[in-house]
Amino acid sequence: MKKTAFVTGGASGIGAATCRILSKTGYRVYVADIQRESGQILAQELEDAVFLEVNVRNESDFEKGLAQVITESNQLDVMVNNAAIVGTLGPISSLTVEQYDLSQEIIQRSVVLGTKHAAKIMQTQKLGSIVNVASIAGLLGGYSPHTYAACKAAVIQFTKSVALELAEDNVRVNAVCPGAIATPIHTGTTGPEWRQTIKKVKESCADFQAIPRMGEPSEIAEAVVWLASEKSSYVTGQALAVDGGATAGKIWREQPEFFKSFHPVRS
Ligand SMILES: NC(=O)c1ccc[n+]([C@@H]2O[C@H](COP(=O)([O-])OP(=O)(O)OC[C@H]3O[C@@H](n4cnc5c(N)ncnc54)[C@H](O)[C@@H]3O)[C@@H](O)[C@H]2O)c1
Repeated sequence: MKKTAFVTGGASGIGAATCRILSKTGYRVYVADIQRESGQILAQELEDAVFLEVNVRNESDFEKGLAQVITESNQLDVMVNNAAIVGTLGPISSLTVEQYDLSQEIIQRSVVLGTKHAAKIMQTQKLGSIVNVASIAGLLGGYSPHTYAACKAAVIQFTKSVALELAEDNVRVNAVCPGAIATPIHTGTTGPEWRQTIKKVKESCADFQAIPRMGEPSEIAEAVVWLASEKSSYVTGQALAVDGGATAGKIWREQPEFFKSFHPVRS
């Protein structure tokens, strides 16, 4: 029987790259997103894929979407909780409860709901792999606005906690923590504003990262698909940073004199 994967936020960026690789690897892919047009175009392009209109803020959308998967495909092998936004910006003093709640629902609660409903199916099957897309912003401060950082840290801790519960039912739960990846999330568009922002992010990656460039969505998707597959059968409860070395430490391209004797020097 063909393996089945459900990918939230599958219509764009890292989610779309994940759908492409899963499809090439032989999965039937359910592309779950609020972006109907791009989701449908992607599903048509892939060999065996279905677009599902899912808003990750709604628990009922997960219930309906996953019920459709079981009706059509009989099983759920992989759940990728990937959809998110950057969410509310700005100083803590100006944060409103409404902004916080909306961001938290999309960035963090969505992962809880996706995991809950996938786990119900996978625990019955005694088989499955859940991959949550977190961020290095959940590992270290300074990479994002406050709410995003807090929600991604919560995603990482939630992943570990649930992995401990589900292991006895042969269900693994892991997180991938991307560094800076060139996708529309940075501005919510792909127009001139996006190009300008991406240019700035690229420059800052070149300043401090061991691998001095932004990542491509496919470089995260490869890690997601590995964690989803049996190739990672002994891995659970982990948060894998895929970040060009960003969280390994800061690299000094303009090295202060006192570091020169013991830090790696590029020139
Ligand atoms: N791009 C980066 O630099 C980066 C870095 C770290 C982590 N991430 C994480 O990677 C994941 C994917 O982001 P991306 O960079 O590919 O961004 P993206 O904007 O290209 O994709 C996000 C997708 O989520 C969907 N989405 C947003 N709100 C939704 C909702 N309410 N219901 C259903 N779908 C919704 C969007 O329509 C979009 O298709 C996110 O969890 C993001 O936080 C991205």
